Amino acid sequence: MTIDPERLDTVWPRATTRSGGELYLGGISARELAREHGTPAYILDEDDFIARARAWRDALPGGDVHYGGKAFLCPEIVRWLDRLGLNLDVCTGGELAVARAGGIDPARVTFHGNNKSAAELRAAVTWGAGCVVLDSFTELTRLAAIAAEHGVRQRVMIRVTPGVDASTHKAIATGGDDSKFGFSLSAGDAERAIRLVRAEPSLELYGLHSHIGSQLLELDGFTLAARKMTAFATAMDVDRLDLGGGLGIVYRPGDPVPPTPGELVAALQKETGGLHLAVEPGRSIAGPSTVALYEVGTIKGVYASVDGGMSDNPRPAMYGSPYTAILASRTSGAPERAFTIAGKHCESGDVLVRDLPLPADLAPGDLLAIPASGAYQRSMASNYNHVTRPPVVAVRDGRSRVIVRRETEEDLLRLYV
Ligand code: LLP
Repeated sequence: MTIDPERLDTVWPRATTRSGGELYLGGISARELAREHGTPAYILDEDDFIARARAWRDALPGGDVHYGGKAFLCPEIVRWLDRLGLNLDVCTGGELAVARAGGIDPARVTFHGNNKSAAELRAAVTWGAGCVVLDSFTELTRLAAIAAEHGVRQRVMIRVTPGVDASTHKAIATGGDDSKFGFSLSAGDAERAIRLVRAEPSLELYGLHSHIGSQLLELDGFTLAARKMTAFATAMDVDRLDLGGGLGIVYRPGDPVPPTPGELVAALQKETGGLHLAVEPGRSIAGPSTVALYEVGTIKGVYASVDGGMSDNPRPAMYGSPYTAILASRTSGAPERAFTIAGKHCESGDVLVRDLPLPADLAPGDLLAIPASGAYQRSMASNYNHVTRPPVVAVRDGRSRVIVRRETEEDLLRLYV
């Protein structure tokens, strides 16, 4: 077995190897996976996902770990979380429906979102969702009425905007005072919300919540938010803090490495003292577990175009997110030259990776693998240009199984009158 250390960096799921020039995911070669499941496809290393979920759980034994379902969710994932003893965060009625389909105990589900409709809140309350995170005064009144109507005393957390500007892309920073999320700490809204909840017989104040952003690679923002939230919770006599998700991952070999879950939890606990602590990791569990597999279709100048693109990974187009790719189906002795990996969509911005050194003999039919594709890719995938969304294939010990099947043209046409 030849392992190319330069290319099989830590960005690959743990069971990934290279043999005879081919990439093996969960013990199965890229070509075999492509033959059996087609391309593009998301190949999810089940043991890798589970190990990362476990690492979070083990890092916070006395507290709660909620998986942020928005990163990637399907009923099979819900079943894994259930088995592992993780809780689940959802942020729409749709995610709630998936949680329900996965059969998790509703008491372990927390419902987030800045504009939950009355119908969504009703679904959560009647199903018995463990906690609803209140995000506005409008919602507070709305939920109190719905809970009262159903004779339920609904546990709630109050989402607080702690006034922390996390260093990440502005589209995924959520802790600043100008955020659309939560009740402002500095303007006194958070304090008022606590008083209102305490006065509502149909609501039970369970704790305070904050989430400052995503793909964060340093501890500073987390610890500052933890410090501010701890001071506020103590002043308001609240004993439970949920400090959200946000821990980043490595997308390319050589990029900055984030703290481990254990390091982050230790830093948070230093700030929060004896308060009960909860966290909500999404990307750091799902992201590194999955590799996106594509087939090269055409080569033209610098462009190598693959059979997917911005519909299965909108992140480069939306946030300028960096990715890498490798030739997964063979080795090549050819010298490298720079390619731009483009998608098949009718937009010039439909580019997955720019200026990537790959063997100059790259050709139609070659397979490319993009690591760190498990978070915010399938969950943000669209049908732009009526492209069908790829399947998610779980691999483990040389076996593969589809946990989200490929969308078909029939699926697409089903919506039309
Ligand atoms: N909790 C709350 C309240 C959140 O809003 C989020 C993510 C999480 C937990 C999980 O955060 P994570 O551990 O995954 O960073 N689409 C963007 C990311 C948006 C994140 C939204 N909120 C992206 O592709 O980078």
